Amino acid sequence: MTQHDRLLIIDFGSQVTQLIARRLRELNVYCEIHPYQNVTDAFLAEFAPKAVIFSGGPDSVVREGSPRPPQSVYTLGVPILGICYGQQVMMQDLGGKVDGGKISGGGGTAEFGRAFVTPAGEPLPILNGWFSGGREQVWMSHGDHVSKIAPGFEVFGVSPNAPYAITADVSRGFYAVQFHPEVHHTPNGKKIYENFVKLAGFKGDWTMGAYRAEAIAKIREQVGDKKVICGLSGGVDSSVAAVLIHEAIGDQLTCVFVDHGLLRQNEAQEVVTMFRDHYNIPLIHADESELFLGALEGESDPETKRKTIGKLFIDVFQKYANEIEGAEFLAQGTLYPDVIESVSFSGGPSVTIKSHHNVGGLPEKMGLKLVEPLRELFKDEVRALGHELGLPASFIGRHPFPGPGLAIRCPGEITRAKLDILRKADAVYIDQIRKHGLYDEIWQAFVAILPVRTVGVMGDGRTYDYACALRAVTSVDGMTADYYPFSHEFLGETATRIINEVEGINRVTYDITSKPPGTIEWE
Ligand code: XMP
Repeated sequence: MTQHDRLLIIDFGSQVTQLIARRLRELNVYCEIHPYQNVTDAFLAEFAPKAVIFSGGPDSVVREGSPRPPQSVYTLGVPILGICYGQQVMMQDLGGKVDGGKISGGGGTAEFGRAFVTPAGEPLPILNGWFSGGREQVWMSHGDHVSKIAPGFEVFGVSPNAPYAITADVSRGFYAVQFHPEVHHTPNGKKIYENFVKLAGFKGDWTMGAYRAEAIAKIREQVGDKKVICGLSGGVDSSVAAVLIHEAIGDQLTCVFVDHGLLRQNEAQEVVTMFRDHYNIPLIHADESELFLGALEGESDPETKRKTIGKLFIDVFQKYANEIEGAEFLAQGTLYPDVIESVSFSGGPSVTIKSHHNVGGLPEKMGLKLVEPLRELFKDEVRALGHELGLPASFIGRHPFPGPGLAIRCPGEITRAKLDILRKADAVYIDQIRKHGLYDEIWQAFVAILPVRTVGVMGDGRTYDYACALRAVTSVDGMTADYYPFSHEFLGETATRIINEVEGINRVTYDITSKPPGTIEWE
């Protein structure tokens, strides 16, 4: 565990619990989210939080058997902040009363969306910086509501539908709010977290510099004098993990870069140059394009393509890894959201839209132990760590690129000729986006080559070449996405450049599908 003061977020299943963690990390406070079932008396004693936050949640505290924290949390002597369902839990546990609303069959009013809170009672330190304009916009999302506050609590803020919008028992350091301060629609919500952690005595020393030093010490301790293998994809996560581990254990690390022949223009060379030449990291460049492209020949079913690539990838990785004598560890760029998802109690099994490409299952198969130095970080924190480690900004800011590579941007049958055309068109498109200063505004942009040829006229001649689609989306996490609203000038100029510069394409279209109902990639 980290040596920093820790804040514990007890998760009752809200859709936005991760945002609470984001707000706290932005304040340089170390926190962890744990589902309520895992938070036992023993856990609390070992975790020793300096403060606790109860998240919101979809259940109703009036329902018997609904989620609760262990009652020992109230006698730890540390500040607690309850949010929405968390407020109701606190009131119910400490002697107040909650009434069921429409959703839980209680008939009371539910409240969803924007509301305005005005101050009540004495100024409260946790509200420093609030109400300078008289009232604050907040985001409500609750079915039930508190009808009687617990003994010791007082009211510090009200809204037209929530007489107990902000409540606190100042002597015990217990704060409970009806709304969600962590969401964007509570514009001044961050202040509440800032004041709360200040009151709890956090020093705000969770910085990337500190993280780097601690992570290096931890890797050294875990690995000792043994060898580590790291699969490099050219993506940010595996690259940051590799550089960090290399800084910790030097040449005990060997990277394996599986080149499946489905990478973008110059990509393989860039990865090899950066890691082997610039960072001096031992790197095996497994050029297996023949193998992958051979296996994909004649295949046009998207799932079969994905599965073929995924299986071959594991075989190839294993073959090269076996050559590294004495390797006992496999490094992975697992991030905190993956860790939370795997223990989430609300996330049931969901429908598989696409079988994602990863190296899951490899460590067991090969008898390797895992080194996961990014397990505590969110994606943007990985980028910050990348900066801290001196990775070039242009590399850290790169758009995500899927494991199966260009295979899923080439609907229908994959041929080398089509891949070559696709690489060239993609390079022109990305060049256009960079030249117009739009790269960082866009989550992901790429070209897909379509399995259709169309008739055109160039000069005095007839052409019969491929059509392509440009894709550019904005997104926060890739789960939902909007198409990027390029200007017509930009689209026109880009289409002209692609058709003039890329032999084999004579028609350019722009994909304006959002996700859902589309997905970002074409397959
Ligand atoms: P979709 O197409 O499902 O993509 O909307 C969402 C995000 O995931 C990326 N993606 C993948 N990433 N392995 C990956 O590592 C995969 O198999 C894979 N498939 C899609 C996609 O590029 C987008 O960022």
